[in-house]
Amino acid sequence: MNAPASEPLRPVALVTGASSGTGRDIAIALAEDGCNVGLLGRRTAALEATAERIRALGREACVLTADVCDENSVSAVLEQFLVWSGGAVHVLVNAAGIPGPLGDNVGQLQLTDFDAVMATNLRGPFLTMSRLLPVMCGQGYGRVVNIGGTHGMRGRAGRASYATSKWALRGLTRSAALEVGAHGVTANVVAPGAIAVERMRQRWADQAVEEGVSESVVLERYVQAMGMALQRPNETADVVATVRFLVGEGGRNITGQEIVVDGGVIV
Ligand SMILES: NC(=O)c1ccc[n+]([C@@H]2O[C@H](COP(=O)([O-])OP(=O)(O)OC[C@H]3O[C@@H](n4cnc5c(N)ncnc54)[C@H](OP(=O)(O)O)[C@@H]3O)[C@@H](O)[C@H]2O)c1
Repeated sequence: MNAPASEPLRPVALVTGASSGTGRDIAIALAEDGCNVGLLGRRTAALEATAERIRALGREACVLTADVCDENSVSAVLEQFLVWSGGAVHVLVNAAGIPGPLGDNVGQLQLTDFDAVMATNLRGPFLTMSRLLPVMCGQGYGRVVNIGGTHGMRGRAGRASYATSKWALRGLTRSAALEVGAHGVTANVVAPGAIAVERMRQRWADQAVEEGVSESVVLERYVQAMGMALQRPNETADVVATVRFLVGEGGRNITGQEIVVDGGVIV
C-alpha cells in the first residue's frame, strides 16, 4: 500500500477486533502491506500476540485495550493511538463484533442481549469513526472498512439483533461516505458469509460430537443448507483480500458500497 503523496510517514492503520479471527488477520495483512498498526480489543494478551507477529514483520504495533461499547475507554485509547501515530491515521477497519443470541425470535430476545449486540457492532464503529474521520478529512486521505455480514443484507429468523446491527452499519457507512468523500476519504462495508474462524470451527466441531458425525459431514450439510454456489465457507484470507482491495489502489474510487464475500449465497 502506498502512503498518500502528501504523507511522508509510513501509513498507519487502526483495526478493532485485532485479538482474534478476521480482525487479527486483517491487521497482520495491513502490516505486510507496509502499515504500522494500532490493535484494539479487550484481551490484552491476545492483542500482544498479534503485535508480536506485526513486529516480526518489521512494522510497529500499538496495543489498545478497550471495550468498543465504552465511550470513555474508546476515547482514551484513540487519543493514545493518535499520540503514538504522530496524529495520523490512514486506514480504519472496524472488525470487532459479536454474533449475539442464536435462535431467539424477536418475541424471546432479551433487551440486554439486543443492546449488547448493537453496542458492539454499531456503537463501536460509530465511536471510532466519529473520532478518526475528522483526522482523515484533515489529512485529505483515508480508508474506512467496516466488517458487516450477509445478515445485514437480508432478514434472518432467530438473528434479529445481529441482523439489525449489521443493517444499521450499512446506513452509518453509506452516510459517512457521502460526508467525507470530498476530502479523499472512502468508507465501505465488507459483508462476509460464514468465516471459518476458531469460534466457528469450534461450533462445527461441537455439533459433530453432539451428532456423532464427522466435522466434514457437518460442514457439507451447512454448505448445502445455505445453497452456497462455491460450496466453501470463507477462510479469513477471503475477507482479508477484499479489505486489501478496498484500501489499495483498486478501491480509490469506490465508496459507500457493500461487497458481499459469501461463496455465492446471496446471488
Ligand atoms: N465468523 C463469521 O462467520 C462471521 C461472518 C460474518 C461476519 N463476521 C464479522 O466479522 C467480524 C470478526 O468476526 P470473527 O468471527 O472473525 O471474530 P472473532 O474471532 O469472534 O473475534 C471477535 C473480535 O471482536 C472483538 N470484540 C468483541 N467484542 C468486543 C468489544 N466489546 N470491545 C472490543 N473488541 C471486541 C474480540 O476481541 P476481544 O475478545 O479481545 O475483545 C475479537 O477480536 C465481526 O464483526 C463479525 O460480526 C463474522
